[in-house]
Amino acid sequence: RRYMQNLGRVTLVLILTATGAFLYVTQAQSHPPEQLDADPTKPTLVVLGSGWGATSFLKSLDTDEFNVVVISPRNYFLFTPLLPSVTVGTLEPRSIIQPTRYITRHKKRKVSVYEAEAQEVDPAKKTVTFQDISDVKGAADSVTIPYDYLVYAVGCENQTFGIKGVNEHACFLKELGDADKVRTKIMDCIETAAFKGQSEEEIDRLMHMVVVGGGPTGVEYAGELHDFLIDDLKKWYPEVADRLRITLIEALPNVLPAFSKQLIQYTESTFKENRIDVLTRTMVKDVKDKAVVVQDANKEIREIPYGLLVWATGNTSRRITRDLMNKLPQVQTQRRGLLVDDYLSMLGADGVYALGDCTATSYAPTAQVASQEGIYLASVFHKLGQKAKLERQLADLRAQPAADPSEIEATVKKLNRAAKLTPFHYSHQGSLAYIGSEKAIADLPLFNGNVASGGGAAMLFWRSAYVSTLYSVRNRTLVLADWAKVKIFGRWV
Ligand code: FAD
Ligand code: NAI
Repeated sequence: RRYMQNLGRVTLVLILTATGAFLYVTQAQSHPPEQLDADPTKPTLVVLGSGWGATSFLKSLDTDEFNVVVISPRNYFLFTPLLPSVTVGTLEPRSIIQPTRYITRHKKRKVSVYEAEAQEVDPAKKTVTFQDISDVKGAADSVTIPYDYLVYAVGCENQTFGIKGVNEHACFLKELGDADKVRTKIMDCIETAAFKGQSEEEIDRLMHMVVVGGGPTGVEYAGELHDFLIDDLKKWYPEVADRLRITLIEALPNVLPAFSKQLIQYTESTFKENRIDVLTRTMVKDVKDKAVVVQDANKEIREIPYGLLVWATGNTSRRITRDLMNKLPQVQTQRRGLLVDDYLSMLGADGVYALGDCTATSYAPTAQVASQEGIYLASVFHKLGQKAKLERQLADLRAQPAADPSEIEATVKKLNRAAKLTPFHYSHQGSLAYIGSEKAIADLPLFNGNVASGGGAAMLFWRSAYVSTLYSVRNRTLVLADWAKVKIFGRWV
């Protein structure tokens, strides 16, 4: 009995300590400290974007030596790996975003944040022009500012290959608004299918959810949709639930070309079990308002009717990136994105650094790469700041008639060290994807090789890996609460 009493006391103390620590951390985080004012003697560092690259850069940046300005059309960071879960109500949109001002308010020096879209970068004049593109505009909505340094992290936009009808009829899955649109459209399709007197043919069309692109985005979305059908739709819409069909269309011979063969087979067989039709070697050629036109491996053309169409065929450069490349045609020769050197400095543009999906490097366009580049770039700026500080110290020392030569020598040595940069090195932590029915796939670089795993254990790993990489305690709490909520009450899209 005494043992049980002691165990009870220890557990109580642990729970109280954990709750106290949790409250302390959350309270400390929601009361940002006083910040230093902008210093006109320091260089201006403009950051474009608030995605993976820009946010990991800002998070690690020492703002002491710079006046930082952040420009992005969205005023928050979006945790994209969990975006497919928002489309069916597994997660709430607010759970996977973190306001940019929350990040900048915790920096040492004040950071200016503008919710606006950069329209033009002039690498010769070193200026950025940006515009308020929100629905609510004031008298001032467009301005040009100079920069000393520019960190360019605007990501990419959706690739459509110029296929007719995609922009008009398909939904994308890149931004929070896209997930919301998909969420609304799924329910519209189902409710319309359940409408009194709906014809059989129309029910089949409305209940057909087509996903184009068998990359990780398309596969994860199809998996989430399947969960929604099995866990919730059958309960709430028994009259039409059995009519729901999911089709994934992929131009290549298999889905997930970047994953190992074993995991591709595992995904395809899981999809088969889950009655998700995978049409490989099938290319979408045209998109009509109620059907996609596809060409299969035998070059046969046919139409596939759909209720909801999700388009996930990868990335292409943004207009502003193409314009910037066109200004430097001699050196910026890759259509895929900006060319940078080993230190992420953009070729041909003084003071411009680029990272993430908007660059053309040997790395895949992933969050992992963008966030590691952001951390690396913050270390480059730390060195630039150190260098500026030491140069000032050296100038002061040299101006003193009675300066100690050994002190000057030591400062020169420190300056040389600060000026020395090491190139960016990417460390691949593995690839993960959720494929539905509480299963995930994981390709992990372990034991000097690659370990491929798929199933329930990989799903637990996927969940814990993403919860631990979420931006804040707030995000982690909300995501865990959403998962618990879905287990208890189900999804209600
Ligand atoms: P983004 O994160 O896209 O950020 C670009 C930023 O620039 C945004 O804030 C945008 O608003 C802003 N911007 C756009 N235009 C302008 C402009 N003109 N001026 C100023 N700012 C501008 N990768 C993984 O490694 N693992 C995953 O599990 C994973 N899952 C994903 C799931 C989905 C659904 C998607 C769409 C992507 C996923 N990715 C994943 C890929 C990952 O999200 C990208 O590689 C990553 O976001 C790239 O970071 P970035 O900073 O370059 O661009
Ligand atoms: P993707 O480029 O990886 O895949 C797009 C797929 O669409 C390709 O397989 C392509 O063959 C196919 N396609 C193109 N045109 C087509 C057409 N007309 N008809 C049929 N199929 C067509 O794009 P995705 O999935 O959006 O991913 C973009 C990037 O984000 C990738 O680098 C990916 O690794 C990363 N990402 C990673 C995730 C993860 O690790 N879990 C999740 C989501 C994205």
